[in-house]
Amino acid sequence: MTIKGQAVFTIRNEQETAWLAERIAKLIKPGAVLALDGDLGAGKTTFSQKFAKAIGVNDVVNSPTFTIIKEYEGASMPFYHMDVYRLSLEEAYDLGLDDYFYGSGVTIVEWASLIEELLPPERLEMYIAHEGGEERNIRITGIGEPYASWCGALDEMGAGK
Ligand SMILES: Nc1ncnc2c1ncn2[C@@H]1O[C@H](COP(=O)(O)OP(=O)(O)O)[C@@H](O)[C@H]1O
Ligand SMILES: [Mg+2]
Repeated sequence: MTIKGQAVFTIRNEQETAWLAERIAKLIKPGAVLALDGDLGAGKTTFSQKFAKAIGVNDVVNSPTFTIIKEYEGASMPFYHMDVYRLSLEEAYDLGLDDYFYGSGVTIVEWASLIEELLPPERLEMYIAHEGGEERNIRITGIGEPYASWCGALDEMGAGK
């Protein structure tokens, strides 16, 4: 049986999105996969930009909608940023996107559920829901270890917020 953890955050503004990205960045290890979902404009790219900054990426991080995959150098590991919205599962497979998941960097996949079959079984899933204005509801599910434990750590941080 796979161990799961969950943490839910009510985010009031973009600074709080940055706060959450920084908390997650502190937990991250090489090879980690963050699977993001949520409607267009929910904040997947914005979260990715805050996360990239938190792990020491100095380059400008743009939406990878057209490039599909972009690689950056962070302070202690590479950052792979994907947007699979325009891809079929077959195309994602042919591009070898799954190779990144088993590499030494940290990967964020926007619209990850579209390629669920290609994702590693252990991952951190985040669903961002637009609640109007800058408010967002972010539901995080850690599947397998260490992700399930990360959720416990994140949940405690959330309580003290
Ligand atoms: N709390 C928040 N978190 C993330 N983005 C926010 C927030 N509040 C407002 N925004 C704005 O919402 C938009 C989100 O767009 P984007 O990150 O490109 O979404 P997605 O990648 O999910 O399509 C940006 O213009 C961002 O500035
Ligand atoms: Mg995006």
